[in-house]
Amino acid sequence: MSETLHVQKIREGTVIDHINAGCALSVLRILGITGREGNVVSIIMNVPSQRLGTKDIVKVEGRELEHDEVDKIALIAPKATINIIRNYLVVEKQKTKLPRLIRGITRCGSVACISNSDEPVEAMFFVESEDPVRLRCYYCNRFMEQENVLGQF
Ligand code: CTP
Ligand code: ZN
Repeated sequence: MSETLHVQKIREGTVIDHINAGCALSVLRILGITGREGNVVSIIMNVPSQRLGTKDIVKVEGRELEHDEVDKIALIAPKATINIIRNYLVVEKQKTKLPRLIRGITRCGSVACISNSDEPVEAMFFVESEDPVRLRCYYCNRFMEQENVLGQF
């Protein structure tokens, strides 16, 4: 209940709830939301949460996130809930879910990896664990932990 005191309910759009505290700006970056699009975006950071202790919330008005965008959020905030709001009501509540293989979103941490070379090879990772996020490079097997992913956004 307490978070509703911080920012009012929205009429239409998307509420990304249960983001790990401090990670809201990374969520916006991975979504490519800069704030220059013109719609109202509210960022609420470090509010109390029963489940997480503290959490961040992002409210994007006038825009419903697509499924592939929701999947990306899982890399930053594996506990996030995505709420689609229409006429003030939550009409859809999604949990983030990572596919078994992800491509093109993050870079491998190894400079020697072929995906970081001049070759036209797109970075690709096996998802070893979703929460906390743990990825394994398809090419060089190097592990990427959640903080490494966060560091890229
Ligand atoms: N919300 C909003 N505007 C609305 C409706 C909901 O900003 N018109 C926000 C709420 O403040 C909350 C989130 O969307 O942060 C989810 O709303 P709701 O499902 O009503 O809350 P809970 O039941 O607490 O959600 P959960 O079970 O996922 O914790
Ligand atoms: Zn690699």
